[in-house]
Amino acid sequence: MIKFDTAAFFLDQRLIPEVPTTARHLSDLRGIFADTNAYESVIIHDNPLIYQVASVEPADGDGQLHYGLGMLLPGRIGDEYYMTKGHFHAYRPAAEIYVTLRGEGVMLLEDESGVSRLSPMHTNTIVYVPGHTAHRTINTGAEPLMYLGIYPANAGHDYASIAATNFRSVVIAVNGQPTLIPRVDYLTQFNGTGS
Ligand code: F6R
Ligand code: MN
Repeated sequence: MIKFDTAAFFLDQRLIPEVPTTARHLSDLRGIFADTNAYESVIIHDNPLIYQVASVEPADGDGQLHYGLGMLLPGRIGDEYYMTKGHFHAYRPAAEIYVTLRGEGVMLLEDESGVSRLSPMHTNTIVYVPGHTAHRTINTGAEPLMYLGIYPANAGHDYASIAATNFRSVVIAVNGQPTLIPRVDYLTQFNGTGS
């Protein structure tokens, strides 16, 4: 097993000052991965770090920006790749810019009517997350996915609204390729048959 320490993270921390970091381990992501058997088979003996985010909040108030440097590790639980919890912004109109610094991934976007789409994340590219859109970052590559998220200071996080459905689509590896399919189809047809 390849062991990623936090070296890559600290390398890119030259971008930001020393700030508190949020770390999410597999145990923090219970209910996120569709293949519950695969989840339980890992968590019973291991609780790996899945991602961490260093958030910078220079000032609050109208017109201010916050930003966070994220590192999402590579890996899979069943057919699904390591991913973030995902959220709407508590202040729904708040948009966000994601700049991918390193690695390969996709952003799963879902609007308030439940329509989902994928936006590719490659090194040195930008994803624009419109307001009113839930977003989940997914590492489809073999290296840590490093990204900078820049968002209005008043955006906030609303995890509960999207947790109710845990996004209506899943991204699974089919013949090694990230593929977007409706969650209901995955649960009824694909579960355990990807590769
Ligand atoms: C902020 C933002 C990112 C995420 C980070 C972790 O609005 O989108 O900084 O917070 O990628 O993802 P979550 O917050 O979904 O655990
Ligand atoms: Mn966000």
